[in-house]
Amino acid sequence: MFLCINLDHVATVRQARQEDYPSLIDACILAEKSGADGITLHLREDRRHIQDNDIYEASKIIKGKFTMEMASTDEMLEIAKRVKPNLLTLVPEKRQELTTEGGLNLKNNKNKFKDYISEVKKAGLRASFFIEPDFEIIEIAKELGTDCIEIHTGRYANVKNSDILFKELEKIKKASEFAYGLGLQVNVGHGLNKDNVAEIIKIKNLSEFHIGHAVIARAIFVGLEKAISEIKEQLK
Ligand code: PXP
Repeated sequence: MFLCINLDHVATVRQARQEDYPSLIDACILAEKSGADGITLHLREDRRHIQDNDIYEASKIIKGKFTMEMASTDEMLEIAKRVKPNLLTLVPEKRQELTTEGGLNLKNNKNKFKDYISEVKKAGLRASFFIEPDFEIIEIAKELGTDCIEIHTGRYANVKNSDILFKELEKIKKASEFAYGLGLQVNVGHGLNKDNVAEIIKIKNLSEFHIGHAVIARAIFVGLEKAISEIKEQLK
């Protein structure tokens, strides 16, 4: 199990004042020192937090796994080809959303994604689809030629009712087993924190945990190092 820390919101704080602090690069270095197995950055089309230069600079200093989250556009693929991250996680993007609000709709866009994955592979890169825990979508992901998926855990993370929480957890569990059985690498992410990750960790065959907002929020009170090491301890 690998802990990949999403540091977008270090850039959110910086961009709020258009300053050059806090340093995203220092945050990447500290995150890796604190036990992160990798760093994840989402270059959004609207550039609301991570900027192009962040991606280039971070790619030079990240020692572990570098994941770039992005929309499946030509512009992003060109940047990814230059930066060569270890993994491209393809996500849906809407201008008005506060954060990525759900998985990709692979059902209605099969041809587009098939071509995109083939371009990614031609460039010698690996891609992952950010998708809902849904068997049909997982089958399509496999058919489109991806090696990896990231299961959206946001619904599980946000639900308050314990019956629905149990159902959401079961969905993630079954979907992970199914995807792993198809030979896919299975990652998880969205809305996870040091507490709700405990049940997800019990699921077999998960590879990478992509966690961001809760870590930065907790770091306000305990510091980035402790916020990361707390989750790392759980994973161990
Ligand atoms: N995985 C994906 C694909 C995401 O888009 C995000 C948010 O950028 C995350 C994981 C991290 O989610 P959170 O910030 O809620 O931990």
